[in-house]
Amino acid sequence: MLINLKENAKVRAKNVARCKERGIVLPTFKNMIDPSTVPAPIKKKLKTTGLWDVDPVNLFRITWHNEPVEQGGGFGKVNYIEIPREITGTKARIIALAGKWFPCGVHKVGATYSCLAPALVTGNFDSMEQAAVWPSTGNYCRGGAYNSRLLACKGIAILPAEMSKERFDWLKSMADETIATPGCESNVKEIFDKCHELDETRGKHIVIFNQFEQFENYLWHYKVTGSAFLEVAKELKIKAENVRAYASSTGSGGTLAAGDHLKDVYPNIKIGAGEAKQCPTLLRNGFGGHRIEGIGDKHVPWIHNVKNTDMICSIDDQDCMDIYRLFNEPDGIEYLKSIGLKDKDIANLQLFGISGIGNMLSAIKMAKYYEMEEDDVVFTVLTDSSVMYKSRLLELDDQQGKFNPVEAARVHSGALLHQGIDNALELGYYDRLRIHNLKYYTWVEQQGKTYDELNEQWYNRNYWKQIPAMADKIDKLIDKFNADVAK
Ligand SMILES: Cc1ncc(COP(=O)(O)O)c(C=O)c1O
Repeated sequence: MLINLKENAKVRAKNVARCKERGIVLPTFKNMIDPSTVPAPIKKKLKTTGLWDVDPVNLFRITWHNEPVEQGGGFGKVNYIEIPREITGTKARIIALAGKWFPCGVHKVGATYSCLAPALVTGNFDSMEQAAVWPSTGNYCRGGAYNSRLLACKGIAILPAEMSKERFDWLKSMADETIATPGCESNVKEIFDKCHELDETRGKHIVIFNQFEQFENYLWHYKVTGSAFLEVAKELKIKAENVRAYASSTGSGGTLAAGDHLKDVYPNIKIGAGEAKQCPTLLRNGFGGHRIEGIGDKHVPWIHNVKNTDMICSIDDQDCMDIYRLFNEPDGIEYLKSIGLKDKDIANLQLFGISGIGNMLSAIKMAKYYEMEEDDVVFTVLTDSSVMYKSRLLELDDQQGKFNPVEAARVHSGALLHQGIDNALELGYYDRLRIHNLKYYTWVEQQGKTYDELNEQWYNRNYWKQIPAMADKIDKLIDKFNADVAK
């Protein structure tokens, strides 16, 4: 079974007792997709709760529908923006979901909840005796540590030592333990090694929720993020023929799964997977370090449905850092005002973290590569927001000199308007197979998957289709669990 839903009655009873004691109610996939279904008493409590408060009621804010306010928000439309053409320079429309308005400021709370909730309601995780381990390149462990606190269990965050100071500072108060692994963004192998070490030394005292292999992560994005895009398409009355592409980087491969949902609805859509040019694993089996925080690599995640991927977009991390400065430095903002950006568009610049900028660049490449027209739409995701990286601005000042109006014009015309289709590869059947085959080295050689499982992913046409159907089963288990807690 791709997601373990076998029940351990004894541990489940303990989890019920713990949730009862702490007044914890769990949201279902249905609630996360459509928060109008959230029970009235919970909506009432949210009115007096801050977006980032450590309060279990915030589990119900694991949705794209949060009112975009810091305090007391209810639910509204999906949080998205249309990125102005003055920025993208494309004929096509580029529309991005905004992750800033999740608790912790990032949609990764969704992936972590989706991993933890089934384990909790089946009794495959003991919230009283075990610690939840969150191996990550940054935000997944933030989301995991936060959800662990909401669910009254211990959380252990694992992330590379070179991740931003903001992340480490925040984890100090949130995680029970934070483990820094050697290296940067693309040192995922070192994270896996740490997991093996913890497994050997702490055994039954921990459960490792490995986002790179857990289909719960895929499931959350397929169902929740995918449905959010469908709502946006409906709200904006975008014709099916104009939904042309979906661009998302691969960190764990979770966010990409929203593209699989879109392809089930719009079979002609192209799915583009983004990565850093400085670590072109998907493009050329390459390796290297880079600065697009959150997209870990030198491997292909187990949950990446490679057969459904149509294009690889390798993005220059220097472009991302330059644009981050353009969007955040006063001289950059002045320049953007001078080329016609409205106040609302300027305010929206805060919605872009570094990987969000990378996703926008992948979307630009796809729009140009496929020669899209004015009515065509590329969907993409802004995973977190600018607030997570402000310390990088000072570092960049030191490394590259102060940002100034000339730099602003250079970045705008170079990294944005002249972003080309270089390092974008449209995948044929055997290109996809080449990428799929890379999974062998990580997952079969190192991480204990079998040869047969790997072949299943490629040859069994129903393999990926089994996953979305599991949301209803998990919802039933959550409903039953909540009912037992309420008894
Ligand atoms: C900032 C940021 N961007 C992108 C990603 C990649 O998302 P996914 O893991 O869903 O592929 C992550 C993952 O942690 C992230 O933290």
